[in-house]
Amino acid sequence: MSERKSLALTCLLLMLTPLAAIASPPIIEGERFHPEPGQHAMVVTSHTLASRVGRDILRDGGNAVDAAVAIGFALAVVQPRSGNIGGGGFMVISDEKSDQVTSIDYRETAPAGAFETMFQDDEGNVIEEASRFSANASGVPGTVSGMAMALERYGSMSLDRVMAPAIRLAHDGFAIPQRFADGLNGSRERLEKQEGTRRLFYKADGSNWRAGEVFRQPELAATLTRIAQNGPREFYEGETADHLIETLQAHGGIMTRADLKDYRAIERAPVHGTYRDYDIYAMAPPSSGGVHIVQILNMLENDDLTRMGHGSAASMHLMSEAMRRAYADRSKYLGDPAFFDVPVEALTSKDYARELRAQISLEKATPSEAIGPGNITPYESNETTHYSVADDSGLAVANTYTLNFSYGSGIAVDKAGFLLNNEMDDFSAKPGVPNAFGLIGGEANAVEPGKRMLSSMTPTIVKRDGRNFLITGSPGGSRIITTTLGVISNVIDHGMNIQSAVSAPRFHDQWLPDEIRIEDGFSPDTVRLLESMGHNVTQQSAMGASQSILINDDGFQGGADPRRETSSALGL
Ligand code: GLY
Repeated sequence: MSERKSLALTCLLLMLTPLAAIASPPIIEGERFHPEPGQHAMVVTSHTLASRVGRDILRDGGNAVDAAVAIGFALAVVQPRSGNIGGGGFMVISDEKSDQVTSIDYRETAPAGAFETMFQDDEGNVIEEASRFSANASGVPGTVSGMAMALERYGSMSLDRVMAPAIRLAHDGFAIPQRFADGLNGSRERLEKQEGTRRLFYKADGSNWRAGEVFRQPELAATLTRIAQNGPREFYEGETADHLIETLQAHGGIMTRADLKDYRAIERAPVHGTYRDYDIYAMAPPSSGGVHIVQILNMLENDDLTRMGHGSAASMHLMSEAMRRAYADRSKYLGDPAFFDVPVEALTSKDYARELRAQISLEKATPSEAIGPGNITPYESNETTHYSVADDSGLAVANTYTLNFSYGSGIAVDKAGFLLNNEMDDFSAKPGVPNAFGLIGGEANAVEPGKRMLSSMTPTIVKRDGRNFLITGSPGGSRIITTTLGVISNVIDHGMNIQSAVSAPRFHDQWLPDEIRIEDGFSPDTVRLLESMGHNVTQQSAMGASQSILINDDGFQGGADPRRETSSALGL
């Protein structure tokens, strides 16, 4: 059965089946359905082995942050297309006991030698290859610093304890899932161009790895062991830093040892908003995710989405109109707050949302050109990975991190066994010209030395009456924000259980191109109604992979996204 057909069937089954009635999981690789009542902790990730690592840490007395950090390192081993130590991301942490929600920004930064036109030729044309697949495509990685900061400030275990499972997986190896083999085989043309990368990810005779074979990564095991023993500065100032800079400079990169040494993760207040009776906490700039989740929810909250119904033309029209207005603002107002004064308060204010909502007709689509200019053809990538963890002490973690594209720039650090990001493509290589996700940026997101590139990653924690309620987020490039929005609305507006909320068909509107992009699973009647309102509707491949947790009176429920066959929810 094709991936799309199997997804549609899985979604249909999940929509029709009450969670408590699901007895035997129909999918073999992931561990997706854990509806037993009364569970008091939950881990949901895109990989069964990473979920087991997190669950075991919780079982051994670790808290949700310990588990989240252990999962971050484990995914770097078992899912190298997006799990990483050579990239960056964002972690939102909620502590019910102290009623505090905080976040760790470990986004990559541009090296000191970066400059605004570095990805343009002499005529000012953007050179895509340079921002995506060259040594200069990489920002200074933040993952090791971010994970270490989260652990030191909010964890309870030592770094070597939480890294031990990842080191074991790298050293002893693991049985390759089909998705892992398919990913490497599908990216072969790009990855084998780099000698170091070919050596790491293909067999000595050059052939592909097959599902079920054991995959070992001794160089990565040695790198992780050095970090576990010497601490995070090993990555930024030790032997690992030497290997990283030697590799990049051998490929003509501008990153220096000083860039690595100067890198620091930043703890930030998350963006806060309210939606109906709920508090929304999501990532602040340099992610656009938190601002736009709150902005869109503000535009929606005075309409009765429950009555309109999930997947109806009425609700999809209204949500799309709200989405496209937010994405138009994204292109102008969002960037690294250390370099640009992002008007977070104004963009997330209820007054501004009322103004925007007043422009929306419930009968007719607003052409995107009436909202803002532009003409683009987006390249799509579904990579990045999100995971959620919640424990019984009231700690919850939403973490999204990435190399940007699948396998990042495709350049692996020689002698250290890990891939580097191509996050520099998330800058506006030239203001007004779209990046790989079709997103247009302005001066706010122009390349500058030491700056963090704008992101869409949206790790989010929703609270109700001071209690953690929903922990969510997703990969999916520009579609991350709308995927996360959909899960929130499915739970709050449509009363879905978390598995249904995560599995339900998705749609996305990012202002430009002027279209509503839909997955399989919407009724043709709905599509016709949307078209009659003036929308362009295109059906494309699955979007995102939202690994989410819902906590209510029935206990902790995990929703593992069926769009990834290795997705896994494990409760305790
Ligand atoms: N690289 C995808 C994002 O940060 O939004």
